[in-house]
Formats: sequence, C-alpha cells, structure tokens
Amino acid sequence: MAPMDDVTDTVFRQIINDCAKPDLSFTEFVNVDGLQSAGREHLLHKLKFTPKEQPIIAQLWGLNPENFYKTTKELIEMGFDGVDLNMGCPVKTVIKNGACAALINNRELAGEIIGATKAAAGGALPVSVKTRVGFTTVDMSWIEFLLSKILNMLSIHGRTAKELSNAPVNWDLIGQAVQLRNSLSPSTLIVGNGDVMDRQQAESLAEKYRLDGAMIGRGVLHDPFAFTQSSPWQSWDKAKKLELFRKHIELYLGTYQTKERNFEALRKFCKLYINGFDGASELRAKFMETTDPLDALKLLESSASPSVILGLAGK
Ligand SMILES: Cc1cc2nc3c(=O)[nH]c(=O)nc-3n(C[C@H](O)[C@H](O)[C@H](O)COP(=O)(O)O)c2cc1C
Repeated sequence: MAPMDDVTDTVFRQIINDCAKPDLSFTEFVNVDGLQSAGREHLLHKLKFTPKEQPIIAQLWGLNPENFYKTTKELIEMGFDGVDLNMGCPVKTVIKNGACAALINNRELAGEIIGATKAAAGGALPVSVKTRVGFTTVDMSWIEFLLSKILNMLSIHGRTAKELSNAPVNWDLIGQAVQLRNSLSPSTLIVGNGDVMDRQQAESLAEKYRLDGAMIGRGVLHDPFAFTQSSPWQSWDKAKKLELFRKHIELYLGTYQTKERNFEALRKFCKLYINGFDGASELRAKFMETTDPLDALKLLESSASPSVILGLAGK
C-alpha cells in the first residue's frame, strides 16, 4: 500500500489489513527536520503502528542528512521493517524548499541523505527510495544515480514531477528501470506505481514489466479490498459500508488524543464508505457538515439500517 499523507495512518491501515492484507505498507511521509525539532510531538502520531500492519516501512522526507540519521536510528528502536526516502512528492510547498522531488535536481544532497540513512540503518533496516522518472522531463540518469546507491528497493511512479497526476503513467519507463537495475544493482527490488487500482492489475503489470512489485495508492479509496484477488466491495450494502465507517471512526477515537490528528482527515474517507447506495450523495453532504468524530458517529447511527443499530446495541 502506497504512502498517502493524511490517508494511510495507523487507523486506515488497520481497516485495510482487516479487509485484505497488503504485502507491504508504508506510513505517511514524516518530516525528519520537524521530528528532530521542538515540533516533534505534533508529528509522532504519523509513526504509530500496530503489529497487524507489519511489514511496515516508515517514509521520511526533509533536508538535513543528520536528521535522517537520527530518525533512522529511532525507527530501528520503534520496530519498523524498513525506511523509505521520499524523493518524488511534487507538491509546491514541499519542493520550493528543495525537498522530495526537488532532490531529482540536487544529486549531491540526495546522495548525502541516502548515505546518512544507510549509515544509521547499518544493515539492520532495509533502505529504499520512492521517486518519479524525472523533474520537468524524463531523466533516466536520475534512476541510474539512485541505482548506483545500491538501495534495497526503488519504487518508481511513472510520471515526472511536473506531470503531477495528470499525464498517463509511463510503464515502459518503469520497465526500462528494471533493465538498468539488472546491470547496475541486481539486488535492488523495483516497484512500479501509478493508477493501479487492484491486486489483479498490479500482478499483471508486475508480470509484464518483470517488476518485483506494484504499489496501490488511491485504489484503496475506491475499494478497501483492493489487495484481494476478488473483492466483495461492490456487493456490500449500505448497512455494511456504514458499519465499516463506524469502526474506522471508533478506532480513530481510540487511537488519537484530542486534536492530535485533524478531524478533516476523516472527511477524506466519506466518498469511500458512503458510496454506491441510494441516498449516498445526500448522506455525504450531511457528513461534510459534521464538525467532530462524535458528531459523525451520531450521523452514521441515525442513517444506518436497523441491523446496524442492533449491532451497536449489542456492543
Ligand atoms: C492524498 C495523497 C497523499 C499522498 N502522500 C504521499 C506521501 O506521503 N508519500 C509518498 O511517497 N507519496 C504520497 N502520495 C503519492 C502516492 O503514494 C502515489 O505515488 C500516487 O497517488 C500514485 O499512485 P496511485 O495512482 O496508485 O494513487 C500521495 C498521494 C495522495 C493522493
């Protein structure tokens, strides 16, 4: 499961793991410079996980190699299964400071960040990078550069940073990366990413391009069973979908302290659970008017069918 900020937190990962377990999950990206500063307390919630979500890789971003070093040491203590470096996020607020996808144009710093992370990991934690195929134009020398760092894994989104999510994903370029890997760094696993909706599609792309894996991001916002071969989601009725949403919100309430995590983040799931049944769009509109999780739970309870209310009463 791909890292998605404000989406793939421990709560949603637990929901997904209960529906259909991914082979591997990532945390949302966490800023190392913030983590190693006074703002640390506001970011730690992004590194929460439960054993159910393993294997899980923590994804880091930032600018200061020393902070990557310190954070990676902490990830080992926390029990993560790997550390991933974000060198692909194209969001303006992030790249204007030279982080993430901007590192495609700053190989010196990218190399220092990888070096510091590998030094801290010391073989105890696999080190990987998630990136794109170039900044403004396709640049396979960037992929060659990353392969020269002998990473454990390289995940490649088949678009440039400039293309955001707009252009078609270029899987041939991801396939070319596999060829480069074969000659430059045979031990590096190559994972493809971009517009993969479910496991079947992931497996057929992996086979076609001889990848070691394919990563699903937004697909889980359409179907929480995206990681199974055959999803029952389309046949789920309103009661079952709202019950799963209720479980998600209750888990959220049990996981986070007050204000630790913004309620706005929960709204992102509205379209996933409140979808595909009569009255869904009206209920979504009402959900968007709720202002806190308890309010949201009340709305779901009052909108649920009798079977869901009985389910609640039996708890
Ligand atoms: C809301 C959102 C948040 C994201 N946050 C991250 C992130 O924290 N780290 C990262 O590497 N990619 C992030 N991405 C990019 C996804 O991991 C993925 O590369 C992208 O969505 C394309 O894959 P998909 O078509 O399967 O969604 C994010 C994407 C979305 C839509």
